[in-house]
Amino acid sequence: MSYGKPESGAMQASPLGQLLIMLREDLMGELQAINQYQAHIDNIEEAEIKELLEHIRDDEKEHVAELTHLISRVDAIQREKFLNDHTAAPAERVSAGKDESQVLTVGNLFGKK
Ligand SMILES: [Fe+2]
Repeated sequence: MSYGKPESGAMQASPLGQLLIMLREDLMGELQAINQYQAHIDNIEEAEIKELLEHIRDDEKEHVAELTHLISRVDAIQREKFLNDHTAAPAERVSAGKDESQVLTVGNLFGKK
């Protein structure tokens, strides 16, 4: 499920840039959905409905994780930022690797160079 604004700025970007803009918009939609489901959960008394909405909310969290992973595969800078967790204590940080062969591009995403 996605609730993001469609195509904001996507038409001026390169194909890879357009893909990233769409994925980021999808990610925003998933995050908004989590907040919306949580607000409804917090205001519903019926246990059965609450439980179902909690299940749906958790599905949205899975979608956030999937989109985050996909964005990090497409966007090398974003991947590096994810790998360098500045919220962790310095001793717990993991640095980004040097291997750029794993970077996903629009071309290799669809089987082309
Ligand atoms: Fe979703």
